Formats: sequence, structure tokens, C-alpha cells
Amino acid sequence: MDGNGRWAERRQRPRTLGHRAGVKAVQVCIEYCLAQGIEALTLFAFSSENWNRPQEEVGALMKLFLRMLDSEVDELHRRGVRVAFIGDRPGFPEAIRARMAVAETLTRGNTRLVLTIAASYGGRWDIAQACRQLATEAAAGAIDPATIDEAMLHSRLGLADLPEPDLFIRTGGDLRISNFLLWQLAYTELWFTETLWPDLDASVLDAALAAFADRERRFGLTSAQVAGSTE
Ligand code: FPP
Repeated sequence: MDGNGRWAERRQRPRTLGHRAGVKAVQVCIEYCLAQGIEALTLFAFSSENWNRPQEEVGALMKLFLRMLDSEVDELHRRGVRVAFIGDRPGFPEAIRARMAVAETLTRGNTRLVLTIAASYGGRWDIAQACRQLATEAAAGAIDPATIDEAMLHSRLGLADLPEPDLFIRTGGDLRISNFLLWQLAYTELWFTETLWPDLDASVLDAALAAFADRERRFGLTSAQVAGSTE
């Protein structure tokens, strides 16, 4: 969700106003997924590196996050959305951690859309924490290190219970992944737009899905093999 700060700066307004506008775009995106029958949406809300932003901006983001948790979760639950969080939770104030836990518990039986918020998240952090879990289990004798394979490592990652993402969308014009789902994006289709996150609307998402529909996903195979498998 990139471009909130620039959206505000272009209007000579404080960056935090851009983040507030960004929350509206989050709602647009969730509505779009529900309307299209998209079953999983993972939003990169706050990276491990974002803690290093000016304290004032970090504080404003935490307030916004708290407010979102208070105002949105009941409605998401009513709409059949399961809410989950991935990231390094101990970094967050207790008030936020408690609301995250409440949101997850309340919505855990919902199946219409899995909305995962990546907060205090980094792809490298995720891989490192999964390795730490495996090492701890191996040291305790619960697993044999020789049996550690890709599937086992995957099962200790933040999105272990979801299929690998089909489509990655980055707003704001930068052409990089910026430490998002490094492991899970191995075969994900990447799509970038100049649109700043607060300007996101259904037409932008339609364009992303249209581009996705035109891609040939080979997963390391040849075109002929892929064509054969769909005949
Ligand atoms: C990126 O824009 C956006 C963010 C760093 C925060 C997005 C968060 C929310 C909309 C909701 C609050 C939720 C949480 C979990 C804190 P940017 O500031 O990098 O924009 P720029 O590249 O234009 O400066």
C-alpha cells in the first residue's frame, strides 16, 4: 500500500492525512475482493523497517491502526471476513496486540475472505523466525534436521495456511518487492501501478486482474507443457 505520504504531500497536507485516506482505500480493496469472490487478500500495512520513520509518523500510524481495529472488525466479521495478522507482534503496544487477538478469535470461523494484515512484517524476518522455530524443534528432538524441506519451512511461515499468492500489486510507482512475502512470491505474478494507494479504485484493480488474466504461468515448465496440461 505505497504512496500515502506522497498523496498528502501533493496536497501540501501532513503525511498522516495520506495514511487516513489510505484506510479508505483499504475498504475499497476489501469490497472489491468480496464482490469478485477473491478468497485471500494480504495487505502490507507496516514493515519491519517502518519503525525507523519519524516518531510522530509512527505514533500516528499506531493510533490509526488502533482506531481501525476498533471501528472495522465487527463489520468485517458480519461480512464473513476472517482477519489475521502476520509480523513481529511484541513490537506493538499491548492495546493493539490485545485487539489483534480479539479480531482473530472473533473472525476465525469465517470463510468468505481471509484478510491478512502484515504489520511489523518483513519477508526476511518471517524466514528467520521460521528457521528459529525449526532449530528449536530440532534441538528439542521433536524433528530430525535431515527431514527439513521446503514444505516444512513453509509450514512455519506467516501465511502457512494459505495458498501461495497469485498476484502481487504494488501501488505508488516503485518497482520492487521491499521485503514483502519473499518466500511466497516465488511464482507470483507481479503488477505495478503509478496510482498512489489512496487513489486506488475498482478500475485500477480491474486493470490488475486483466493483466493477470493475460499472463502465462509456467511454474518452471515450458509453454508446450503448460498448454498440454490444460487440454
Ligand atoms: C505506505 O505509504 C503506507 C504505510 C507505511 C502505512 C499504511 C497503513 C495504513 C493505511 C493503515 C494503518 C495500519 C497499520 C498496520 C499501521 P508511504 O507512507 O510509504 O507513502 P510514500 O511512499 O508516498 O511516502
